[in-house]
Amino acid sequence: MTELRVGLLGLGTIGTGVARILIEQKELISRRLGKQVILVAAADRDLGRDRGLDFTGVRLVDDANDIVTADDIDLVVELIGGYEPARSFVIKALEHGKHVVTANKALIAKHGEELFPLAAAKGLQIGFEAAVGGGIPCLKALREGLAANAIASVYGILNGTCNFILTKMENEGASYANVLKEAQKLGYAEADPSFDVEGIDTAQKLAILAAMAFGSKIKFDDVYTEGVSNITANDIESAFEMGYRIKLLGIAKPHGDQIEMRVHPTLVSLTSQMAQVSDSYNAVQITGDFVENTMYVGRGAGERPTASAVVADVMDICSGFPDGIAHLAPPMGFVESSRKDIKTMAMADAECEYYIRLMVKDQPGVIAAVTSILADHRISLEALTQKERDTGHNVAIIMLTHTTAEGNMQAAISRIIGLEAVEEDVLILRKESAVA
Ligand code: HSE
Repeated sequence: MTELRVGLLGLGTIGTGVARILIEQKELISRRLGKQVILVAAADRDLGRDRGLDFTGVRLVDDANDIVTADDIDLVVELIGGYEPARSFVIKALEHGKHVVTANKALIAKHGEELFPLAAAKGLQIGFEAAVGGGIPCLKALREGLAANAIASVYGILNGTCNFILTKMENEGASYANVLKEAQKLGYAEADPSFDVEGIDTAQKLAILAAMAFGSKIKFDDVYTEGVSNITANDIESAFEMGYRIKLLGIAKPHGDQIEMRVHPTLVSLTSQMAQVSDSYNAVQITGDFVENTMYVGRGAGERPTASAVVADVMDICSGFPDGIAHLAPPMGFVESSRKDIKTMAMADAECEYYIRLMVKDQPGVIAAVTSILADHRISLEALTQKERDTGHNVAIIMLTHTTAEGNMQAAISRIIGLEAVEEDVLILRKESAVA
């Protein structure tokens, strides 16, 4: 039987999961492929830790160089994470003629444009399904299942940690800090959890999705990014009372010769499918011109779901191995030469509906002053609620607006912040009615 020989870089949470699948599901995998995927070697700096797996027959090394240059390895799975040394090892593996599979969204988002041409020139594949949406095969759906469509929009809950935090804050009134600790314990969070809660992880995934959806270059640095660390339990409750749930969404849409990409906490209707996606689950809604709305839901983080996506990529590459890979779509869904350098739309031009939370002094004329500024900027209100007075004699004013341009809203908000009666930082969230 044909064998695909795999070398693994990193035996952390996901690496252990990948080794577990390759060892425990060996028979299932060869029955599906008619070929064998063999875990030949694995590298990790800490080989002493018990991972609860029988590594008999697997060469365990503490130097990844031994794997990326080895003659007896056909495919390298990179699960070190981060930019370096992951990037250098992937380049070295490609230079040594090895296919690559990675779960590293940071690497693909930042260095994909260096790696894809290198792989294409050598006739090699790079698989990165696990980089977006954890266990959900959303990249495969976009690249292959929806290949006949011009994509009109992509909306996604793309970070399991944030979704877990927002869900627990709503359901259990748990504190932000405690829930984050729990997410870390469950293996959802990044090594540096600020990547999760500040929206960077979501932005990396959105940049990859957008480039694949619209046939453009990956432009991670252009993604407008806000995280969830300013959201309070009160905001979650206020949104709920108005018929909305707060989700950290990645949003990408084409606008003529530009692409809009933004990541921020977003109000979605309580009746939408997206609002039902809870805990560490991720969801990606992709709309195509022929297929219309499609939605993909599943576990977005954690050892087993992420490892499942990694091994599916390994199996895809194995199915064409060693006689050819032509049956696989190019990694980014478009042949390299046709991927375009499309400009990112300025955030000021994005058209949004808004949730505004102000803490103001409880005195006559404050609401009139605020709404008159909004009127000056031709911003129309959909709803306005005043919350009870707190001990300091301040009140929270919550407003929902109709659609306006971000630049216009920011101009209005900077005037509102200047009002003497406005007490504290203003929180602005955006609302998306088009989310299914
Ligand atoms: N830290 C990521 C998350 C892991 O919470 O979704 C999956 O990329």
